[in-house]
Amino acid sequence: MAHIICLLVHRISLNLIIVWVSILTLPSIYCMPPASPVHCNATGCTLSNAYGAWGDRKDCNFPQIMYPKTEQDIISAVVSASKSRLKVKVVSKFSHTIPKLACPGSGPGNSMVISTENYDRGIEIDSEKMVVTVDSGVGLRDMIDTISKAGLSLVASPYWEGVSVGGMISTGAHGSSWWGKGGAVHDHVVGMSLVVPGTKQEGYAKVMRLNGQDLVLNAAKLSLGLLGVISKVTFALETGFKRSITYNFTDDNAIEEAFVEHGKKHEFGDITWYPSRHTAVYRYDDRVSLSASGDGVNDFIGFQSNLILISKSDRAAEKACENARNVQGKCALASTFLGYKKLTANGLKNNILFTGYPVIGHQHKMQTSGSCLYSSPARIDVSCAWDPRIHGLFFYETTAIFTIPNFKSFLLDVKKLRDLQPQNFCGVDMYNGFLIRFIRQSSAHLGQSEDSVVVDFNYYRADDAMSPRLNQDILEEVEQMAFIKYDAKPHWAKNRAVAFLDVQRKYSKFDMFIAAKKKLDPSNMFSSEWSDAILLGKEGEKLDGCALEGQCICSEDRHCSPQNGYFCKTGLVYQQASVCRYSPSFVT
Ligand SMILES: Cc1cc2nc3c(=O)[nH]c(=O)nc-3n(C[C@H](O)[C@H](O)[C@H](O)COP(=O)(O)OP(=O)(O)OC[C@H]3O[C@@H](n4cnc5c(N)ncnc54)[C@H](O)[C@@H]3O)c2cc1C
Ligand SMILES: *[C@@H]1O[C@H](CO)[C@@H](O)[C@H](O)[C@H]1NC(C)=O
Ligand SMILES: *[C@@H]1O[C@H](CO)[C@@H](O)[C@H](O)[C@H]1NC(C)=O
Repeated sequence: MAHIICLLVHRISLNLIIVWVSILTLPSIYCMPPASPVHCNATGCTLSNAYGAWGDRKDCNFPQIMYPKTEQDIISAVVSASKSRLKVKVVSKFSHTIPKLACPGSGPGNSMVISTENYDRGIEIDSEKMVVTVDSGVGLRDMIDTISKAGLSLVASPYWEGVSVGGMISTGAHGSSWWGKGGAVHDHVVGMSLVVPGTKQEGYAKVMRLNGQDLVLNAAKLSLGLLGVISKVTFALETGFKRSITYNFTDDNAIEEAFVEHGKKHEFGDITWYPSRHTAVYRYDDRVSLSASGDGVNDFIGFQSNLILISKSDRAAEKACENARNVQGKCALASTFLGYKKLTANGLKNNILFTGYPVIGHQHKMQTSGSCLYSSPARIDVSCAWDPRIHGLFFYETTAIFTIPNFKSFLLDVKKLRDLQPQNFCGVDMYNGFLIRFIRQSSAHLGQSEDSVVVDFNYYRADDAMSPRLNQDILEEVEQMAFIKYDAKPHWAKNRAVAFLDVQRKYSKFDMFIAAKKKLDPSNMFSSEWSDAILLGKEGEKLDGCALEGQCICSEDRHCSPQNGYFCKTGLVYQQASVCRYSPSFVT
């Protein structure tokens, strides 16, 4: 019965996609903007993240929140927190980070959150020096549109435009580039202002104005919100340019050889690998001059508004396949989605529609996207696909940062695992497969010490933390290959707890970061039990089922879900891995 539902739902979602395609041909489609991550009532406030991945469960409570509008307001907030010895965390308008970094703690209350939602006005361009200085709550979209009007470009940005300036640099957000300063945004920071706690003599707070020569900047430009409140950030800009993008949907035969060349050859190149489909999509993405003709837009398909109906039906299809343990159903979905992405060039548009490669457009229209963010009172039936209010997509996002040689070995290992049973990867390929991007060596203490490769992959997360998932052993094996066998570093804004195990050892300048933190925030005002857990990278108490949500690596069956037939086993290719595998014959 469940099998039939899984396939049936697939048919329905296929039909909906066809409806969707016809809707997409309307000039523009807007949606219900994301909800605020903060909820307050007479007794206090709660914070969640944009996916509703935490906070929902009432595990992030605090008594008060401030909405500064000016730098002076920020100083006042830090003064009052510092006088009363409160724990403080900063959060942006949408709170996109997956780990619970922005939560001040779950205790009964000596804490405060500072939201940068209303601190979003200042964008000052100095055309002569080719820099822009912005308030930390300014959204990425506002900033790059303004920069473009001045005939300039910010070279790097994450692919998602819904982030704030302060949040984006604080977690090391990046796009893709091995050229120039590279794909990570914090590597384009040349100055910033930071409000830190002060002694009584100093008036309880002080503003540090850091310029490019300041060594503290190497701690501050990627600081996980742990040093103080960033009030202003200055980025280096370049003369305005356009980009020319072509996607080549091809086979994945030589991917482990081709990736280095690809990263070197194309300034903004990336690769999306769909292992179960034996497909690699090479993004040829190069800078071209402003005089090149084209007014294209990169409206990435995953960040477009979705009919809520479609998001719900995709989720229903995925759940039905999960419940039926129907891998083939997932493969059918993966194949449908991939075909659709090819047809629509992943959302590239020459003007209103995709009419052919290359798509050429202005940097600010090509570097990042997120059309599901914008609202029109006319439409309430569409939203971002993961909006927690609609119970649409809910997934894990694993993001690992490798050295170049390790990444090649990792690809070869994943290929071995894929070749054992390609359909095991259909669940990943229903999302975006493995997105492979490039970032450069960084001077940030918590950045990369050499030119690196970043891989992201998303996969199904059950609504209930205690539900095991189809092929979860495979994804756990890939996760452990990445973070343990190949010593990859976790992206600070993504991942499950296990990715952060031993993270301090992986950064040679970790001590320098901690030393800067001791100096700027000696009383640990900006730390919480949550940020400590991520930073310390120690495995917590190993409760029953802890491996299911990536809270631990299993070492006993009870860390998996023996009652559902999931037992702790070794990896198939990486034998040192310990993963939760479905073994129905063991169910008693
Ligand atoms: C759909 C989606 C797509 C994404 N795509 C990418 C991508 O392509 N590349 C990539 O690298 N990442 C990506 N991310 C991750 C995203 O870039 C990070 O989560 C980023 O940190 C989000 O910024 P935010 O403004 O929402 O910050 P928040 O989540 O609000 O905050 C992030 C951290 O910064 C701190 N912080 C925020 N503002 C300040 C401030 N003014 N002063 C001090 N500390 C501050 C917070 O305390 C917290 O620790 C994506 C996330 C989503 C949800
Ligand atoms: C206020 O919010 C808290 C936390 O979400 C909740 O437990 C409490 O019941 C709410 N109180 C009222 C009066 O709504
Ligand atoms: C696409 O990539 C394949 C494999 O690298 C290559 O043989 C082919 O020429 C490429 N196609 C285009 C249009 O660049």
